[in-house]
Amino acid sequence: MTITTDTQPVLRPHAEQLYAHELAALIATDDLPRPPGWRMSPQAVVTYLLGDGDQISPKYIGPRRLMEVAVATLATDRALLLLGVPGTAKTWVSEHLAAAISGDSTLLIQGTAGTPEEAIRYGWNYARLLAEGPSPQAVVPSPMMRAMQTGAIARVEELTRVPSDVQDTLITILSEKVLPVPELGNEVQAIKGFNVIATANDRDRGVNELSSALRRRFNTVVLPVPSTVDEEVDIVARRVESLGAALELPAVPDSIAEIRRAVTVFRELREGITGDGRTKLKSPSGTLSTAEAISVMTSGMALAAHFGDGVVRAADVAAGIRGAVVRDPVSDAVIWREYLETVVRERDGWQDFYRAAREAE
Ligand SMILES: Nc1ncnc2c1ncn2[C@@H]1O[C@H](COP(=O)(O)OP(=O)(O)OP(=O)(O)O)[C@@H](O)[C@H]1O
Ligand SMILES: [Mg+2]
Repeated sequence: MTITTDTQPVLRPHAEQLYAHELAALIATDDLPRPPGWRMSPQAVVTYLLGDGDQISPKYIGPRRLMEVAVATLATDRALLLLGVPGTAKTWVSEHLAAAISGDSTLLIQGTAGTPEEAIRYGWNYARLLAEGPSPQAVVPSPMMRAMQTGAIARVEELTRVPSDVQDTLITILSEKVLPVPELGNEVQAIKGFNVIATANDRDRGVNELSSALRRRFNTVVLPVPSTVDEEVDIVARRVESLGAALELPAVPDSIAEIRRAVTVFRELREGITGDGRTKLKSPSGTLSTAEAISVMTSGMALAAHFGDGVVRAADVAAGIRGAVVRDPVSDAVIWREYLETVVRERDGWQDFYRAAREAE
C-alpha cells in the first residue's frame, strides 16, 4: 500500500522508480533465460548493477565477480548475505538487486535490537481479530510474508542487530520456504522467485552473531572498501553528482579536485599511512567510509552553491572533513591536529586546505 499523493514529488524515489527506464530497456532487449519469477536474466541484472558504458548507468563500482556471485546465489535456493564495513554499498546493492529481480525493493525489514518476530512473520489487525476471531483477513502480513506470497525478494537490513531468537524465525522460512500460521492451521508456501537478501555490518561488535544454523542458509558476499584512490574518487563523484541532481542543487562544476582531496584524507587516516607510504599515522575512531566522503562532498556542494562562488573550495569541505574525523573530541582531535601539522601543512598545493582546516578548529 502506498500512502503518498501522486501530485507531489517524493524526496527519495525507490530504485525501481528512479531507474524505471533502464529496467524497462533491459527487460525489452533481454532474451536470455530467466529464473522462474524473475523479471530479467541474471546477466541483465549484473548489467543493470555495473552499467554497460552506454544507456545503463553503473550503480555499483567494484569487482564484477562479486555481483555475479551475488546474483547467481539469488537464483538458487540459498539466501544472500552482504557483509562488509560501513559504507561499502551493502544496502545500496541490496535495493538495486531487489529492484532488478522483482521490480520491487520495498519489501524491507529493518533489523534493530527491538525487531519483534511479527516483523518477520505477521501481525494481527486487533480490531478484526476481536470482532471476527482469527481469520485470513485479520492477518497483517510482514514484508517477508508478502515476498513469499508474490514470489519476490525480501530484504533484511542489519540482520546481526536482530535478537538471536528472532533471527531464528528465518530458519524455517529459508530452509522449508514456508511460513506457518498456526492460529489459522495453515501456512504460506513461497512462490518461485522468492528469496532473501540480508545485510550485516562486520564492524558492529557486541551485537548478535548469526547462529551457525542460520549462517549455513546464506551465501556470504563481502563487499570491500574501494581498492584504489581513483576508484573511490569515481564512486564519490558519481554519487555526489546524482545526489546533487536529485536535490536540485545548482550545478557545481569541477569539484573533482576537492573530492580527490577528501578521499585522500579519508583513505590515509583509515589506513594509518600516507599515500606515498612514507609517514605512519594514527587512525581515528570513526570509520571514514566512502559513504561519509559522499555526504561531506554533498554538503560542500550545497555550501558552494548557496553561499560560495559556485565552485567547491577547501573552505566548503574542511569543516565537514573535520567533523567526520573527529568523533571523539579528545583523542580524535589530537590525531587530526597531528595529521594537519605533519602531512597537510607540508604537502604541495594543500596550503588552502591547511588554512581552512585550521580556521575550522
Ligand atoms: N563500491 C561502490 N559503488 C557504488 N556506490 C558506492 C560504493 N561504495 C559506497 N557507495 C555509496 O555509498 C553510499 C552508502 O552506501 P550504503 O548505505 O549502501 O552502505 P552500507 O554498506 O549499507 O553501510 P552501513 O553498514 O552503514 O549500513 C551509497 O550512496 C552508495 O552509492
Ligand atoms: Mg546499510
